[in-house]
Amino acid sequence: PPLSEILNLHDFEAIARVVMPEKAWAYYSSAADDEITNRENHAAYHRLWWRPRILRDVTNVEWSTTILGHPSKMPLYITATALGKLGHPDGELNLTKAAAKHGVIQMIPTLASCAFDELVDAAQPGQVQFLQLYVNKDRSITKKFVQHAEKRGIKALFITVDAPQLGRREKDMRQKFEAEDPAEVTGNNQEDKVDRSQGAARAISSFIDPGLDWKDIPWFQSITKMPLILKGVQCWEDTLQAYDMGLAGVVLSNHGGRQLDFSRSGIEILVEVVRELGARRGLKFPNDKFQLFVDGGVRRANDVLKAIALGATAVGVGRPFLYAFSSYGPEGVDHALQILHDEFEMNMRLLGARTLKEVVPEMVDASSLQSH
Ligand code: FNR
Repeated sequence: PPLSEILNLHDFEAIARVVMPEKAWAYYSSAADDEITNRENHAAYHRLWWRPRILRDVTNVEWSTTILGHPSKMPLYITATALGKLGHPDGELNLTKAAAKHGVIQMIPTLASCAFDELVDAAQPGQVQFLQLYVNKDRSITKKFVQHAEKRGIKALFITVDAPQLGRREKDMRQKFEAEDPAEVTGNNQEDKVDRSQGAARAISSFIDPGLDWKDIPWFQSITKMPLILKGVQCWEDTLQAYDMGLAGVVLSNHGGRQLDFSRSGIEILVEVVRELGARRGLKFPNDKFQLFVDGGVRRANDVLKAIALGATAVGVGRPFLYAFSSYGPEGVDHALQILHDEFEMNMRLLGARTLKEVVPEMVDASSLQSH
């Protein structure tokens, strides 16, 4: 169908399911084990209800914000997802272009299909990009990559901490991957030998160090001045430790349900993190010093605004953009962001919030969330 008939982000998934090559669909859509967490990620938003305010002049509404000090036209960013060329020959470049047009931030994955420098070179002057880092067993490779990224103007480093070993994504594991296919290799070579007999995810990730530990954090702080954020935190205890070690924030995330099945949804974790860090360190969220991000299952501006109301600075969106460019190329991502833009405008008006500061915890009835 023409893009004009795509009315929401769910529609892209339905189209992608039909038009994408089986192998690419398997890699993008798969999640760990029985995929319970993957379903729960979106379902958890269904347990949060609004308490909107009325009779406020909502002629002009505004939902731009700053993320780690950088302007963003929406309180969301394009999160890191590997192997963009499985879905479209231009891979992650589709995201870079659409991000520029809509003034949102792209997080470049370590395992991008496109080379890191290609994605940085494609950015418009002033366009902000973040980097997602998988930490190599060979720390000299990681150090070189991080310092190169900082030199190239990357504004923040998101260290993935929920993947000491790749989860079992059985849909993906049933696909055989071939070394000759350029769509199936990453543009940022991190290892020599690759076993492609068990799906894309396993093939490209064997360099990741399961020995990564809190003890390594000072080393990261010594090799870069970029703000450091841990991606894949799942409880208040680890969030507190990240704060106490001077990190810039955490992403409350279960990796789109692709790692530990029966992990809770990020939005549920957010509630306990805000409560406990408030009680223990007197922190109020959102704040500029230590920022909370959430990802997983966000499909509408309505979902985004719930996370903002509960204290997140911004949320990450993953699969919808992959499905958008796999089905429609760069115009697909552009259209997806336009849909979100229009949803923000409508939802802000219906909530009675003129700026994100007016999207407050009192607007959310969280009594159906089970995590507290
Ligand atoms: C991911 N994600 C991910 N995360 C990361 O830190 N490094 C990576 O290389 C990848 N790769 C990746 C590939 C694919 C195909 C998917 C779907 C996801 C996880 C990603 O950053 C994010 O946590 C989730 O995708 C968010 O959930 P939604 O928005 O996809 O539901």
